Amino acid sequence: MCGIVGAVTHRKVTGILLEGLQRLEYRGYDSAGLALFDGQKNLQRLRRVGKVQELRSAHESIELEGVVGIAHTRWATHGKPSSINAHPQASSDLVAVVHNGIIENHEILSAGLKKLGYEFESETDTEVIAHLVHKEVASHGDFKTGVQSALAHLQGAYAIAVIHKNYPDSIIAARVGSPLVVGLGIGENFIASDPQALRPVTDRFIFLEEGELVELTAESLSIVDLDNQPVERHSVVLDDYQDTSDKGEYRHYMMKEIHEQPDAILATLDGRVTDKHVLENCFGVGAGAIFEKTQAIQIVACGSSFYTGMVAKYWFEEIVGINCQVEIASEFRYRRVAVLKNTLLVTISQSGETADTLAALRDATDNNYLASLCLCNSPNSTIVRESDLSLLIKAGPEICVASTKAFTTQLADLLLLVIAVGKRSGLSEAKETELVAALNSVPDLIRQVLEKDSLIEKLSSRFVDKDHALFLGRGAHYPIALEGALKLKEISYIHAEGYPAGELKHGPLALVDDNMPVVAVAPNGELLDKVKSNLEEVKARGGQLLVVGDELQFSDAEGTDILLMPSCHPVVSPIIYTIPMQLLSYHVAILKGTDVDQPRNLAKSVTVE
Ligand code: M6R
Repeated sequence: MCGIVGAVTHRKVTGILLEGLQRLEYRGYDSAGLALFDGQKNLQRLRRVGKVQELRSAHESIELEGVVGIAHTRWATHGKPSSINAHPQASSDLVAVVHNGIIENHEILSAGLKKLGYEFESETDTEVIAHLVHKEVASHGDFKTGVQSALAHLQGAYAIAVIHKNYPDSIIAARVGSPLVVGLGIGENFIASDPQALRPVTDRFIFLEEGELVELTAESLSIVDLDNQPVERHSVVLDDYQDTSDKGEYRHYMMKEIHEQPDAILATLDGRVTDKHVLENCFGVGAGAIFEKTQAIQIVACGSSFYTGMVAKYWFEEIVGINCQVEIASEFRYRRVAVLKNTLLVTISQSGETADTLAALRDATDNNYLASLCLCNSPNSTIVRESDLSLLIKAGPEICVASTKAFTTQLADLLLLVIAVGKRSGLSEAKETELVAALNSVPDLIRQVLEKDSLIEKLSSRFVDKDHALFLGRGAHYPIALEGALKLKEISYIHAEGYPAGELKHGPLALVDDNMPVVAVAPNGELLDKVKSNLEEVKARGGQLLVVGDELQFSDAEGTDILLMPSCHPVVSPIIYTIPMQLLSYHVAILKGTDVDQPRNLAKSVTVE
């Protein structure tokens, strides 16, 4: 969370910084700011509450230009969104710093600095870095040594970029736990949280590793590691540039991304399956030998990615017959895990930068896992770089904070993994062919569901004046109920809960009345009769039902709406039944007038724990 961009050039930097911030807005959007040295080499700052557009507008009326600058878009951790709390934070008119992460010992550090006469104006943990750099640079008489000395006091996770008035031709940046990438230009250099921020100015990048610090001038860069040893790094050229600024015919990225799902699934399957088989080499060199030994799976993820892992548990245990545990990364990383022999650790992350998932992956290297494999949408992310094996989700850039196409492509990727591991554990060729055919049918099935958009739009009006909603499912559709509830709460701010339908009478039924809409994910299958009984219990209490199912065994009596789905192979129905959940939440949010793509309080990439 929070996006950092910096540029050290011979041309005006504000355009580069503002464009970079716009591209990083997915990391936070409650305030934005920039700092640079003006023509007299004085430090100038401009900060605004709200989205990057507010900063852009402010900049139009306040002419601020320089050739070296840093900028930031914030997702508040310490201190409410305000211009005082916005970054860059400064120490007098000498030092400015932008920061992504959390400084855990900031209280003790600020107490010490206050005793030395430093005055704090913000509620942020970041301001302590600015004052510490000020102090340490003064005492060492050197920018780099001073920053290193300041960083040695910090506990927590951070990526930072700092400028200092006495060293106006350089930027120093460093990372511990949060991503940073150097962008290489000709006679200019850049720093950012994500290469996407710098794509208009360069395609050459160096990804900083943990603990590394870089000093950038327009003509040079030097990287040192934690022990202050010089590090030589080769740059990579990224040729995957995709212009994400265009919403096409859609009002919101979310709707665009929902409609991109048939193509995203096709891209995810392309080159990885034939009409009969999964091609094991898509998991990378050595995957076959690892799958041969795999006796158990441990999945770790957060949010929607965690729910895809829950679906995969049903698949692994039913189809392959091997043990599969799924756990939320923020829990998993802090508990002692009893690892079964030959367990493959699987992380799932759209961004590849989620702090808890990354920490879980790193902590697990001390445990006795067979290997780590990640499913990820960001090829250059830290999680991909630090995993033994990876299978990319080919969703393309997902801009809307609420995950849609990443969710369904993760499920497609997971089914590929289930089949690949299953083949090494006795999955028959006939079963593999059946499952691959089911996967290949997904794009067309999604298209059929997308055609129901106007019906779902009409049904959404039943939710708009409600404060709560329940989503029910059973088996592999229970995680889809959870995902439906998460989508609704994320973008429409309606409180929603997902429950296994069988749990209803163990408590949540007490909530049901005619003010509580209940959405049932109820495809045909062996659990349908059980779900129907659960729904009768809802109806008997006056609950408003929306049943999403493919077999009309429900009467659309008073208080019951039916959304008829196309028939599909049961293994892929969790993917297909996700689509109406996405469309429903989208239309409810539109009716409520919320900010669909950038809902309040959230960020796309959660890089703090
Ligand atoms: O990038 P990741 O997949 O690791 O992100 C995990 C969650 O933060 C993410 O799925 C979040 O729950 C989404 N906003 C859900 O729509």
